[in-house]
Amino acid sequence: MCGIVGYVGPLRADEVVLEGLRRLEYRGYDSAGIAVVSDGTLACVKKAGKLINLESALAQESLPSAHTGIGHTRWATHGAPNDRNAHPHLTQENSIAVVHNGIIENFARLRHELEEAGYEFASETDTEVVAHLLDSIYDPALGLAEAMRQACRRLDGAFTLVAIHANEPGVVVGARRNSPLVVGRGEGENFLGSDVAAFIGYTRNAIEMGQDQVVELHPDSIEVTNFDGSIAPINEYYVSWDAEAAEKGGFEHFMLKEIAEQPQAVSDTLLGRINDEGSLVLDEMRLSDDELRSIDKIVLIACGTAYHAGMIAKYAIEHWTRIPCEIELASEFRYRDPILTRDTLVIAISQSGETMDTLMALRHAREQGARVLAVCNVNGSTIPRESDAVVYTHAGPEIAVASTKAFLTQVVAVHLVALYLAQVRGTKWGDEIRHHIDQLASMPSKIESLLETMEPVRELAKSLVDAQAVLFIGRHVGYPVALEGALKLKELAYMHAEGFAAGELKHGPIALLEQGLPVVAIVPSPQGRSVLHDKVISNIQEVRARGARMIIIAEEGDSEVVPFADVLITIPAVPTLMQPILAAVPLQVFACALATAKGFDVDQPRNLAKSVTVE
Ligand code: F6R
Repeated sequence: MCGIVGYVGPLRADEVVLEGLRRLEYRGYDSAGIAVVSDGTLACVKKAGKLINLESALAQESLPSAHTGIGHTRWATHGAPNDRNAHPHLTQENSIAVVHNGIIENFARLRHELEEAGYEFASETDTEVVAHLLDSIYDPALGLAEAMRQACRRLDGAFTLVAIHANEPGVVVGARRNSPLVVGRGEGENFLGSDVAAFIGYTRNAIEMGQDQVVELHPDSIEVTNFDGSIAPINEYYVSWDAEAAEKGGFEHFMLKEIAEQPQAVSDTLLGRINDEGSLVLDEMRLSDDELRSIDKIVLIACGTAYHAGMIAKYAIEHWTRIPCEIELASEFRYRDPILTRDTLVIAISQSGETMDTLMALRHAREQGARVLAVCNVNGSTIPRESDAVVYTHAGPEIAVASTKAFLTQVVAVHLVALYLAQVRGTKWGDEIRHHIDQLASMPSKIESLLETMEPVRELAKSLVDAQAVLFIGRHVGYPVALEGALKLKELAYMHAEGFAAGELKHGPIALLEQGLPVVAIVPSPQGRSVLHDKVISNIQEVRARGARMIIIAEEGDSEVVPFADVLITIPAVPTLMQPILAAVPLQVFACALATAKGFDVDQPRNLAKSVTVE
C-alpha cells in the first residue's frame, strides 16, 4: 500500500527520493509523485501509473537541485488513480506539500469547513484536506512541526503524513497514527520511509515511530514528539538485512527469488530454537509459563495467505496441545462480538506487521482482556509492538506482492508455537517434541530438492495458459493448501480459481466440473493417517468420473495415486501436519509460471498492495 519517502541532507533530494520510491514499488501503487523545496519555493511532479511515467515526466520537467524532498507512491482509496489525485498535494500558494498513507475519516467535515474558509480543492482526495489544514494553522514563529501536531489532533482515522514547507528548507516533518513510518538516521542526512527498504541503501540505523507521534528531521538532528508536544523517547534499532537482500539477485522476478530463498528462510526461522538442555525456546515469548498454562482457548486471526497459515496452525495446536482453537478472518473478527477472556490467547499472524484488519482485531482482543501473540516477519512493526508476545519468522524482506517465503515460515513458526505450548503444558514428552523439531529441521533440504524438480510444473503451467478456471481440493491441512493454491492463481494469473475441502465438493461445487477442467488435488501422506489418504483418493475418483483433468500432488512413492493422475507432482514424504510446507511450493511455482506465460507482472499484480494498511 502507499509508499512514503522523505529526505534531508547533502544529496539531490529528487534522486534519493526516487530511489526510495523504486524500493517501495513492491507495496503496490497506481500513481507516484515527488516534491522538493529549494530557495523558498516548492516544486512538484506527479503522474498516474507506474514510476516509469513519473521518470518520463521528470525528464521533461526536471526538478531543481534541492536537498529536501518527499515522495509518494499512491494506492487509490479516495478518488481515481489520476494525475490530479496523485500525491504530493500542495496548498494554493505552493507553500506546503504533503504525502499521506491511510484514510482521514473526518475528511468530508474538514473539507467543508476549509471550503467555507475560502480554500479551493484541486483533487478528490482526503489528503488535500491536510495540506489546507496545515496552511490554516501554520505560524512561521512556531514552524511546520507544531502545525503538524495541531493538525493531527484534529484528524480521525489512520494516517502517516509527511510534509515540507517552502519557508523551511532543510526540514521534513512526519506524523504517524495507525499507519507505518520509520526514520532512517544517516550521517549529516536523515530519511523517512514507510518501511526501511526506502532508505536501506543509505543507512541501516532506524528509529521506530510510536503511535500519535510527530518527527522533525534536519540533516543533523531528529526530534520525536507526541501529538501534545511532549518529547518522546527515541527507539533506535539496527536493520539486520541490507540493500542486496532487497535486490533481485539475478532472478527475473522477486517472486522467483523469494521462492528460491525458502530453504534458507525456513532454516533461519528454526535457528536457535533449541537450548543446551534440548528444550524448545522462543526468546521473544514474553508470556510466562503460568500464563500459557492458564489458556483455555486460542483464536487465530489473520488475512489472506497468513489466514491459510492460521488454518494449518489450528490443526497443529489442537493436535499437540488439545487446547480448543478457532481461526477467524481478521476483517470479520471484531464485528461479531467474539467471546474473549483473560484466558484466551489470540495469535495474530502477519508478514508485514502492518495489516490494518489484523491490527484492529488484535486491539479489540486486548481491550477485551485477551493476551495476544504475534507471528510476524517485520521487526519493530506495529502488530508485534502492540502484542504481549511475538515469534518472528526470519524470512527476510518479502518484496513480491504474493506471499511465498513468508507463508512457509509462518507455518513453521506456528508449529513451533504449538510445540512450545505442548512443552509448557506437558501434553507432549520432551523426546516427542524434539522428534517433531527434527522433522521441521529436515524441511530446508527437502524444499531445496523439491525446488530442483519444478520443470514439469512450469511446463504444466504453460500448457494451461488458455484454461478458464482451475479448482484445488484437499482435506485436513491439505484444505488450506488448496485455498492457498487458488489464491496464488487468482492474484497472479487473474484466473477463476477456487479451493475446496475435498469432501465438500459433492455438496455443490461438483456441478462446476466439466470435460478437461484442471483440478489440482493435494493428497495427504499414505503413512499413519491413511483414512484421510483413502478419502482423498475417493474424492479424486468423483472428480475424474466427471471428465476433469486430474493434477495430483502426492508423496513420493505413493503408488496408489498413479492410475488417477493425468499429471503427477511428487513431494518428499513428511508427516501430514508438515506437508503444507512442501505442498505449497509447486503451487507457488505453478501460479508464477502461469502468470508469466500470460505476460502478467508477477511481482506487482494489478489492484493489489503488499501491505494493506487500510481496513
Ligand atoms: C497473498 C498475500 C496476502 C497477505 C495478506 C496479509 O499472497 O500476500 O493475502 O497474506 O494481505 O498480509 P500480512 O501477512 O502482511 O498481514
